[in-house]
Amino acid sequence: MDRQAFGTMQAGVETLRFVTWGAAGAGTLLGRLLEEGGSVAADEGAQAVSDGIAWRAFATARRRFLVADAPAQSARDMVAAAAADLAVLVADASIGIGEQVRRHAAIAVRLGVGHVVLAVDHMDLVGFDAARFEAIAAEFGELARALGIGRHAAIPVSARTGDNVVVPTGRVAWFDGPTLLGHLESVAIASPADGPFRLAVEETVQPGAATPGARGTVTGGRIAVGERVRLARSGREATVARIIGVDGDATSAVAGEAVTLVLDPPLDVARGDVVGAGEAVPMTARCEADLVWLHETELFPGRSYLLHIGTATMPASVVRIRDRLDPATMTHAPAETLAMGDIARVSLELASQVAMQRCRDNRALGGFSLTDRHDGETVAVGTVAEVQAATNVTQHTTVVDRLARAALMRQQPALVWFTGLSGAGKSTVADLVEQRLHASGRHVFLLDGDALRTGLNRDLGFGEGDRVENIRRAAEVGRLMCEAGLIVLACFISPYRADRATARERFEDGMFLEVFVDTPVDECRRRDPKGLYRRADAGEIRNFTGVDAPYEAPEAPELRLDTLARSPQQCAEDVVAMLRARGIVPG
Ligand code: ADX
Repeated sequence: MDRQAFGTMQAGVETLRFVTWGAAGAGTLLGRLLEEGGSVAADEGAQAVSDGIAWRAFATARRRFLVADAPAQSARDMVAAAAADLAVLVADASIGIGEQVRRHAAIAVRLGVGHVVLAVDHMDLVGFDAARFEAIAAEFGELARALGIGRHAAIPVSARTGDNVVVPTGRVAWFDGPTLLGHLESVAIASPADGPFRLAVEETVQPGAATPGARGTVTGGRIAVGERVRLARSGREATVARIIGVDGDATSAVAGEAVTLVLDPPLDVARGDVVGAGEAVPMTARCEADLVWLHETELFPGRSYLLHIGTATMPASVVRIRDRLDPATMTHAPAETLAMGDIARVSLELASQVAMQRCRDNRALGGFSLTDRHDGETVAVGTVAEVQAATNVTQHTTVVDRLARAALMRQQPALVWFTGLSGAGKSTVADLVEQRLHASGRHVFLLDGDALRTGLNRDLGFGEGDRVENIRRAAEVGRLMCEAGLIVLACFISPYRADRATARERFEDGMFLEVFVDTPVDECRRRDPKGLYRRADAGEIRNFTGVDAPYEAPEAPELRLDTLARSPQQCAEDVVAMLRARGIVPG
């Protein structure tokens, strides 16, 4: 997540970033704070946009504030929280602490928000009863302790009448704490400048001079010209020769600033790398993370998403859901999938190593989001809880490798992945392709969904999660066969685009060839070679692709076969022609 400092920040004036979450009342409360709390400096404009979130700015004599202007519980809200210093949760004094407050508190702490304030609103509805407030405050204290929220406070207010939001009134004279605004003005803001120096590299630049520099945001600590730094990726060290800030050359830089560092010697840096000092920034491809699932489509372990952490982006998947939180009871339980709004501890596996830290050590390098690989939508936000050391599994590189084996077979290994509905003709065409290739002396193997499901994958069914795993295993087996030098013809419905994309990623460019066996569902139903459509239509088989389970057609397959227009023999010819054109088999 891009946590670049706002250009509007004034030197010397502290800025507190916060979010307000709660029932309908949160809007009224925020309205009062903005209206009575302070004047918005005209030259700044009321809004600053960062991470696609509108932050409303206001200021008092003591402090500047940025409050996320996002509808409660939306994905944007959560992303906003990932950058906030403090969260104001709003409870109704006449109701008490409900499940929503518990959920919000749990989310805030998991997104690394270190300070949570409970505004006990609607005190007017309970006659400004001190005992009522004390009971809610005590319950909140317990909740905060259970969740491990470091700093917390409860404040009685009435957004409707204005009591104790900005001005203290006689009606809450029994309360010896500050007003809500008074609290926001005086809380200590944790400074990332205290930790070791870290610069998240956004890009390499050529700052006038011949020496390239690394441009990025200081996400922790401070640095001065002449100090030694180390790159996370290569571990190589250099001295900071120049620091170029927004106003030109500087002698030092501190957390929050956007700078360019010129290193001596000029090391090879790229986006996603981290320049650090002191304790080394860990590089890892595995971590334990806390996340909030934000998408209506469930999370299935094994499916690949894009992970954004610091300035790095790469494919990653949740390999395991360790436990899911039940906000009603504050207990954890194991889970197979995550639904929208679920909060869980998971194990993440990345496609390659990346520089990351525990969120509690550095929020910018320990906070992440996951996006859908296809439409780019944010599906989850979270924080790194534990960075896992590299596994002790090292792959032994053998002298006899794929190229050597393939050379002996006098062929080019490849995986032809046939996708399409049940009954589309995948196996029929693949069978003919196999015969042709075999007859011309090629080493081919047909890997079929039905066959794999009677052995290796016999523990899997047809729910979405099981299909994710089915395709993952199929791709792994296909990959091993390619390593062995074979040309593999894989036939799987593989209805989800994301899973086919994940499969493709396991292969080098040009080795994974997707063939869309495009037969409309009506035609498949008419052919119904295994009588399964009839049974699915009768309700005897559930989750049947094309009937009551989806099929996401490929958008850019290497080859599309129109089985209505062409015979199976012609389709097989088309596949062989493609293999020839790509140099997989001789022309
Ligand atoms: S995939 O969706 O996970 O890729 P796969 O290709 O392995 O499926 O298996 C599909 C075959 O399983 C079908 O050709 C059919 O014979 C059988 N089958 C049984 N139940 C279902 C179902 N609910 N949906 C689709 N295919 C099913």
